[in-house]
Amino acid sequence: MKECTFVFLKNWFHQYVQGFYSTDEQLQFHVRLKEEHTLRVLENATRIGVWLECAPEQLELIKIAALFHDIGRFKQYQTYRTFNDALSINHAQLGVEIIQQSNILKTSGLSGTQQEIVERAVLYHNRRKLPSEEIEKYCVPAKIIRDADKIDIFAMLVTKDDKNKIPQATEFENALLYSEKVIEDILQGRLVEYPEIKTENDLLLFRLSWLYDLYFPYSFSVVLEQGYLEKLIAMLPDTQEVHSVYQCLREYTNHHVMGNHIMVRDV
Ligand SMILES: [Fe+2]
Repeated sequence: MKECTFVFLKNWFHQYVQGFYSTDEQLQFHVRLKEEHTLRVLENATRIGVWLECAPEQLELIKIAALFHDIGRFKQYQTYRTFNDALSINHAQLGVEIIQQSNILKTSGLSGTQQEIVERAVLYHNRRKLPSEEIEKYCVPAKIIRDADKIDIFAMLVTKDDKNKIPQATEFENALLYSEKVIEDILQGRLVEYPEIKTENDLLLFRLSWLYDLYFPYSFSVVLEQGYLEKLIAMLPDTQEVHSVYQCLREYTNHHVMGNHIMVRDV
């Protein structure tokens, strides 16, 4: 892969996104939100790849996959005015279609296998689980993108910067309560199922249960360092059940972070 390939693709990405810029404030807000999110996921993914000591060529593919992971979001929002896949379209699948229709990966000089690695990482990034039969060369970039994406979603939930904060979901009940089944799942060490989400608090608990789906110790170290678990728990009702959820997830995080120091390497 040529050194300039990533630069070429990053320029293409920015041009593509700028095609969605609008005087419609709502559309513009959501397009910018995902553009900024993508750049932070790119940074997170690069850091994880460096931490894993990935070979230079693999690191380039990881960066490209991060850049393209949410490429379907812009068209999704422009068409459906929502980021909720259940109410619109699978944005990962749409992303792969956009990549293939534009032929941009091939144009940039990526081989067939390299294109496949990027496309699968995009396709798998929002799945509940990676396909169990998938082979290693496709799994590592996909796992890195999944972790990098979740870390930034945690950041976007807790930030005080309104321009980068995930807007409140309007499709769930604005109840102060949460569903018992959601609490039970987390206490049993299970990822919450999307159809179980009934209230906004359930949605937050669902996202907290993503901790069970993080792959790399580096990612857990970021969660600890940034205090995401504590900050997200503080957004929930102050009940004994929520406290138990905190204890459970904190123990899980402690167990999965390597050593007692934060492993952030410079990239
Ligand atoms: Fe996504």
